[in-house]
Amino acid sequence: MSSSPQTCRINPSILSADFANLEAELGRISNADAAHVDVMDNHFVPNLTLGHPVVERLQKISPVPLDVHLMIADADRWAPAYADLGAASVTFHVEAAAAPIKLARELRARGAKAGMALRPATPVEPYLDMLPELDMLLIMTVEPGFGGQSFLDVTVPKIRRARAAVEEAGVDVAIQVDGGVTDETIIRAAEAGANVFVAGSSVYGKESPADAIEALRAGGLQAMPRAAANAS
Ligand code: DX5
Ligand code: ZN
Repeated sequence: MSSSPQTCRINPSILSADFANLEAELGRISNADAAHVDVMDNHFVPNLTLGHPVVERLQKISPVPLDVHLMIADADRWAPAYADLGAASVTFHVEAAAAPIKLARELRARGAKAGMALRPATPVEPYLDMLPELDMLLIMTVEPGFGGQSFLDVTVPKIRRARAAVEEAGVDVAIQVDGGVTDETIIRAAEAGANVFVAGSSVYGKESPADAIEALRAGGLQAMPRAAANAS
């Protein structure tokens, strides 16, 4: 009874891209598994990025699937529209959802993978029974709101516990980490059991984002078998 090992997926965050040239910036990450799109509303987090009309356009022109991360209040109300526009996955914050199970079902019914995110200080344990309702669990490794922050090592035990719970339940739920992911921190996150890695500044901050993606993927892949060994 095991869903491991899963593939190692690298989803660059376009939060660190040039917002005036998003089509070209997406073209620079065409070897990524998905483009991570951070939607912020200046309520749930103290920052404002882009919203539905822009994501709708990105969906039409992106060479890779969209992985939408909603850092917005009242997720129950706004998230389904991102599934409707064709995003491959839509992730809402549990802290911003009144009825997370209902919302996850709604996202799946509209054809998207359902993701649920936890802020660094939000424990995973209260939500373990709802793992079968999800396709992805996003464990934030920084406080959401801004790119370029340092990876919070305090979240590593939570990644480990989440991976153990996924294995025990025998469900196919990806574990995503987001924030401060670099060539160095991806090793710790992958060893703990993460298999989807969001990286903003460590991809777009490099001269070749495509090479940065390959380097992250190689590092993550190498560390992931150790995660499987640790879990067994
Ligand atoms: C932060 C966002 C992240 C951000 C990560 O709230 O959710 O996706 O872009 O940026 P880095 O990789 O620079 O920490
Ligand atoms: Zn994000």
